[in-house]
Amino acid sequence: MSNKKQEFLEFKDTYTLKIQNNLQDIFALYGKDSCGLIEPMKYSSLNGSKFIRSLLVYATGSILNIDSKLLEQPAIAIELIHTYTLIHDDLPCMDDDDIRRGSPSCHIAFNESSAVLAGDALQSLAFEILSNKKYDEISHKTHLNWINYLSSSIGLNGVAGGQYLDLSINNKNVDLSQLKKIYYLKTSNLIAPCIILPYMLDENYPADFDALLLFGLTLGLSFQIKDDLLGYTSSSDTLGKTKNKDELRNQPNYVNLLGIDETVKLLEENKELMNKILEDMGFKNTMLQDISNYIFDRKF
Ligand code: IPE
Ligand code: IPE
Ligand code: MG
Ligand code: MG
Repeated sequence: MSNKKQEFLEFKDTYTLKIQNNLQDIFALYGKDSCGLIEPMKYSSLNGSKFIRSLLVYATGSILNIDSKLLEQPAIAIELIHTYTLIHDDLPCMDDDDIRRGSPSCHIAFNESSAVLAGDALQSLAFEILSNKKYDEISHKTHLNWINYLSSSIGLNGVAGGQYLDLSINNKNVDLSQLKKIYYLKTSNLIAPCIILPYMLDENYPADFDALLLFGLTLGLSFQIKDDLLGYTSSSDTLGKTKNKDELRNQPNYVNLLGIDETVKLLEENKELMNKILEDMGFKNTMLQDISNYIFDRKF
C-alpha cells in the first residue's frame, strides 16, 4: 500500500474514533438524568455510520491548519442532524425503510412516536452544541455564522424542502434537471456545511467562498448519485440498508433515468471536476482531495 493511501486510512480511523468518542461523551453529558428519549437518539447515532460528514469537516480543517478541537462542535452538530434526517427518512410516512446502518431502523427498534421525537431532539441538540461558547478561540460571530448557515441549509429551502419534493415525485413526473435540483436540496445542503463551517473559523472567510461552495454542492450531488449507483451494484448487507429501494417505491434516480453506464461516466467526470477545483485552489494532494476521491470510490 502506498504511503499516501496508508496516511488516508490512518486519518479516517483516527477521526472516526474521535467523532464516535465525542458523540458518546455528548450523550453521557446531555443524557444524564434525562428521560428515555435519549435511548433512540443514542441507538441511531452511535452505530454503523461511515461518518463521512465529520471526516469532511476534519479534512477541511486540516487544509486550513485549524486546531482539530475547534472542529469538534461543527462535526458533532452535523452528524446529529444527519442522523435525525435518516431517522425521519425511514419512517413509514416517508421511505418506509426497516433497515438502517445494518440494524432495524429507529421506528422498528423503538416505535414511530419515539423515532419522530428522537429526530426532533437530535436536531435541537445539534444547535445547542453549535451555540455553546466552549472555546475562547471561537468568537460569538463565528457561532452565529455557523447557526445561521446550518439552520438555513436544513430547512424550508434546504434538506426539509428537498425531502418534501423527493416524496412528491415518481418515475413518471420527473426529469433529470428536477432530480438534480432535489439532490442539491436534500443532500448537498448537508455536505456543503462540512466544508463551509470549518472555513468560517478562518479570519479570511469568505475568501474563495464561491469555489468552496461549488465544491461542497457538487460533492453532495455526486454523493447522492453514487448512492443511487450503489443501490444497483452492492448488496443490502454491504450497504446496511435495503438495496434498490427506489425501484420498489417507483422512485426516480440517476440510474433509472440515465442507465448504469452513463451514471458511472457522470461520476467519473464529477470526480475529475472535484479534483480540478481543489487543485485550482491549491489543495492538491491534501486529505480533502483524498476524502473527495473516497466518496467516489466507496463500496457502501
Ligand atoms: C445516507 O448517507 C443518506 C444519503 C444522503 C444518501 P450516508 O451514506 O453518509 O449514511 P451513513 O451515515 O454512513 O449511514
Ligand atoms: C436520505 O435520503 C436522507 C436525506 C438525503 C436527507 P435517501 O432516502 O435518498 O437515502 P437512503 O437510501 O434512505 O439512505
Ligand atoms: Mg429518502
Ligand atoms: Mg431513504
